[in-house]
Amino acid sequence: MPFVIAIDGPAASGKGTIARALAARFGFHHLDTGLLYRATGAKGGDPISAAATLEIGDLARPDLRSAEAGQAASQIAAIPEVRQALLDFQRRFAAQEPGAVLDGRDIGTVICPDAPVKLYVVASDQVRAERRAAELGADPVEMLAQLQERDRRDSERATAPLKPADDAVLIDTSTLDIDQAIAVAVAEVERVRSGALS
Ligand code: CDP
Ligand code: CDP
Repeated sequence: MPFVIAIDGPAASGKGTIARALAARFGFHHLDTGLLYRATGAKGGDPISAAATLEIGDLARPDLRSAEAGQAASQIAAIPEVRQALLDFQRRFAAQEPGAVLDGRDIGTVICPDAPVKLYVVASDQVRAERRAAELGADPVEMLAQLQERDRRDSERATAPLKPADDAVLIDTSTLDIDQAIAVAVAEVERVRSGALS
């Protein structure tokens, strides 16, 4: 059975950075599931048919990382039919040998509830806003308001809201640099893998 690492958490908490590092370290496939929602929102038109007809090429659109694309993504991500249309692709991705790392909002709760490793990555609102603002060359105060609005929408929606799975391990990156955050995540994966082998 392929090994699945599920990583969830609020915006700009460091999920993607940890996910990419774990995939490289263990030779696993990596899917940034936020891109599916960003690309669906960026296609415009009816979001349900945009999700149903999403193609790999759509994930390479320019500007998907912008704050505007993030806001549009979180609006269409509240539509249950949009989430349903993107479900199979994510489950198939997770089933690839030798393993896969998926990061998003509902990976540990809905997409891969049986994943042996579930991480829930958080950081203070201030730290997340500063990091994302630095990344996008944006104003941290404006970014803070945007991230908080998006987190609220993601947490309060009825379908697959942002929340930790009961068995998720919390990683707070507020005071961790990237290498330290990755080391904590690697240690957790090693712990589970060594248990599974013994
Ligand atoms: O995927 P997610 O939106 O959760 O966050 P990310 O894109 O991995 O990280 C957001 C920004 O914070 C990036 O610029 C990372 O390099 C940075 N970061 C950091 O400075 N320290 C960490 N421990 C983790 C991420
Ligand atoms: O990188 P960042 O955390 O800022 O955002 P993202 O992971 O690219 O996700 C963009 C938006 O897509 C989120 O605010 C959610 O509304 C939505 N999303 C979701 O609903 N479920 C996922 N598994 C991933 C993203």
